[in-house]
Amino acid sequence: MRVCVRMSPPLFLLLLVIIQYASCELPSFQLTTMNTLLQLLQTHNHNSKWNSSSQDLTNPCSWTGVLCNPNNSFITELSLSSFSLFDISNDYSWSSLVCGIETLEKLDVSNNQLAAIAPPLLLSSCGGLKVLNFSNNMLSGNIPSFQTTLERLDLSHNFLHGVIPDQITELVNLSVLDLSYNRLSGSIPASIGQLSRLQQLILSANNLTGEIPTPITLINTLKRFSANQNAFTGAVPLGITRYLSYLDLSYNRLTGSVPSDLLSQPNLLTVDLSFNKLEGSIPVNVSKSMVRLRLGSNQLSGGLPSWSFGNEVPSLTYLEVGNNRLTGMIPPELRLCKNLSLLDLSHNRLFGYVPRELGDLNKLQVVQLDHNNLTGEIPNEIGELQILVRLNMSWNSLNGSIPPSLSNLQKLINLDLQVNNLTGPIPDSFGTMNLLLELQLGRNRLGGVIRSLPTNLQIALNLSRNNFEGPIPQSLSRLQSLEILDLSNNRFNGGIPNFLTQMGSLTQILLSNNLLTGLVPQFHKNVNVSTEGNINLLYPPPTSPSVDRKNNNAASVGIVVASSTASLVELMVVVIVAVIVLRKVHRINH
Ligand SMILES: *[C@@H]1O[C@H](CO)[C@@H](O)[C@H](O)[C@H]1NC(C)=O
Ligand SMILES: *[C@@H]1O[C@H](CO)[C@@H](O)[C@H](O)[C@H]1NC(C)=O
Ligand SMILES: *[C@@H]1O[C@H](CO)[C@@H](O)[C@H](O)[C@H]1NC(C)=O
Ligand SMILES: *[C@@H]1O[C@H](CO)[C@@H](O)[C@H](O)[C@H]1NC(C)=O
Ligand SMILES: *[C@@H]1O[C@H](CO)[C@@H](O)[C@H](O)[C@H]1NC(C)=O
Ligand SMILES: *[C@@H]1O[C@H](CO)[C@@H](O)[C@H](O)[C@H]1NC(C)=O
Ligand SMILES: *[C@@H]1O[C@H](CO)[C@@H](O)[C@H](O)[C@H]1NC(C)=O
Ligand SMILES: *[C@@H]1O[C@H](CO)[C@@H](O)[C@H](O)[C@H]1NC(C)=O
Ligand SMILES: *[C@@H]1O[C@H](CO)[C@@H](O)[C@H](O)[C@H]1NC(C)=O
Ligand SMILES: *[C@@H]1O[C@H](CO)[C@@H](O)[C@H](O)[C@H]1NC(C)=O
Ligand SMILES: *[C@@H]1O[C@H](CO)[C@@H](O)[C@H](O)[C@H]1NC(C)=O
Ligand SMILES: *[C@@H]1O[C@H](CO)[C@@H](O)[C@H](O)[C@H]1NC(C)=O
Repeated sequence: MRVCVRMSPPLFLLLLVIIQYASCELPSFQLTTMNTLLQLLQTHNHNSKWNSSSQDLTNPCSWTGVLCNPNNSFITELSLSSFSLFDISNDYSWSSLVCGIETLEKLDVSNNQLAAIAPPLLLSSCGGLKVLNFSNNMLSGNIPSFQTTLERLDLSHNFLHGVIPDQITELVNLSVLDLSYNRLSGSIPASIGQLSRLQQLILSANNLTGEIPTPITLINTLKRFSANQNAFTGAVPLGITRYLSYLDLSYNRLTGSVPSDLLSQPNLLTVDLSFNKLEGSIPVNVSKSMVRLRLGSNQLSGGLPSWSFGNEVPSLTYLEVGNNRLTGMIPPELRLCKNLSLLDLSHNRLFGYVPRELGDLNKLQVVQLDHNNLTGEIPNEIGELQILVRLNMSWNSLNGSIPPSLSNLQKLINLDLQVNNLTGPIPDSFGTMNLLLELQLGRNRLGGVIRSLPTNLQIALNLSRNNFEGPIPQSLSRLQSLEILDLSNNRFNGGIPNFLTQMGSLTQILLSNNLLTGLVPQFHKNVNVSTEGNINLLYPPPTSPSVDRKNNNAASVGIVVASSTASLVELMVVVIVAVIVLRKVHRINH
């Protein structure tokens, strides 16, 4: 058994170390190195997760982020992730030290402020390092040459520029290469196809150009290829998905059509080609295993392939094909995609009815059918989507009345039916939709007297450009969180009720072009009010703050006014913050 000695420790620590020496079996050189490292971190770095009061100095294997072999006879992994590391001097003292641990297989220094990689780490002199993680540091300059033993190399979230060097292929055992979120330019070297053990190639968010090299399609170990948010051009290479489970080429400048077998490869789970310039139609055959398919914001045309979605795609959970040029009807066979949670068909040229079969898809949370040419009525069955959070059918030509069954959507937060051809009233049962924060019904032909409204509306209530009539509904007085109220261009009559001025969150109220009469009440000056185009409104004379109270108390009045204004501002800030927080909590990402 070895005696563990720490380099130049204070005397009492040395005694402590000697007393406890029996628990330590690391080679003395590794122990020395670790204690030097500890000292270095203590001296230069006050946020380190290591310090002498919390670490058992004799047993580095017990320190946070240190992993040893099973009998603690040598160190195998060192994770200094989020240790607030920065380069102390030009000799990168701390990382050079690490190289002394020749048994080290994995070094993770992610989430620090390191500006350079210590040269010993790049050379084989550092031993058999297999994993090097420099993610989220401050590396700049070109990608250096690394030691060839590496299997996983993560340089993501730095400031590296220049090209991906051809020499990268010298890292013959590489299985994970993550260069995402840097400033790399140039094209992917075709030689990358020689990395025959690569499983993940992640190049997202750089400035890479040129075509996606075909040799990538030959790497039969590759499971994930992400090259999104670059400036790649040319076509999606044929056979790119042959071995892949995950493909992300979104946010590039790819052209041409989607290869007909691209989506049908049996291992595929996720394909994202959104935000490119792809043309042609959506391939008919889609892999049974597909979970997430995003083809939005391209120039795709033709119809939604009806038979393949359905029986063939039972796992499909996210289908996003919005913002294309798709035509035809929404295929009722979509009902067979039982796991569908997000359906985005918006901004296309789809026509015909909304199939009632959508009501079978009881895992739907987000439905976006807006900006199409859909006609006919909103099917009652939509009300069966128990966990629907967002329904957007705006900007179509839907007619008929709003089905009262929609009020069964008790999880609904955003309902947008604006710019359609809907008639009839707002169903009374809408008063029970307690989570609804946004109701957009503008530009329809809705009408009648409003008796009941959802009670927690917050983002907006927009009833503009309809045929609503009667007095401004009393039920509005409960909407204490509402920010935008648009009742303009209707036939509301009677007076403007005082309770509107008490709606504390209101920032905008549009009452123009109605049949309102009487005195316009005094709104808070921060509320944007529009009232023009009514028949007979009286405006109160502009009031000025009561400064006319002349006397020796003027100064103290001023103080009272000032301090109450200040607390009002504070209160508003609190309310606004609370509203923002609440809204974030309620919003769903997609
Ligand atoms: C040592 O670490 C512990 C726990 O991480 C911390 O509470 C303590 O303040 C640190 N002491 C010094 C001197 O940094
Ligand atoms: C600890 O394990 C290694 C192999 O991992 C072995 O070579 C060594 O002899 C073991 N040491 C002791 C003291 O058991
Ligand atoms: C590198 O570290 C980051 C952050 O700790 C982690 O998310 C990432 O998965 C690591 N990379 C590899 C290749 O293990
Ligand atoms: C690559 O890995 C194999 C074992 O899988 C090993 O024999 C070989 O030495 C490694 N190559 C390098 C350059 O480290
Ligand atoms: C990307 O590269 C092009 C030229 O290749 C250059 O004009 C552009 O500024 C670069 N963009 C960024 C964000 O580096
Ligand atoms: C789609 O798949 C079917 C059955 O697997 C096959 O017969 C057909 O040729 C495929 N169509 C295309 C366009 O690949
Ligand atoms: C549907 O989703 C559930 C969990 O969300 C999953 O367990 C199930 O396997 C999925 N069904 C299919 C056919 O993929
Ligand atoms: C919607 O359909 C009508 C006829 O049904 C057609 O005239 C119009 O151009 C279509 N609009 C769009 C945006 O496709
Ligand atoms: C709305 O419905 C009316 C009457 O049915 C019809 O004349 C009109 O063309 C429709 N408008 C739109 C935009 O669909
Ligand atoms: C809705 O429009 C369709 C034509 O698009 C028409 O056949 C139907 O009668 C209309 N329904 C109502 C209730 O106006
Ligand atoms: C509906 O979609 C339109 C356009 O995509 C968008 O502007 C609007 O905010 C959406 N409505 C809701 C409630 O999300
Ligand atoms: C209310 O909806 C109408 C019709 O879509 C729209 O034009 C208007 O801008 C909306 N009002 C507000 C305040 O956003």
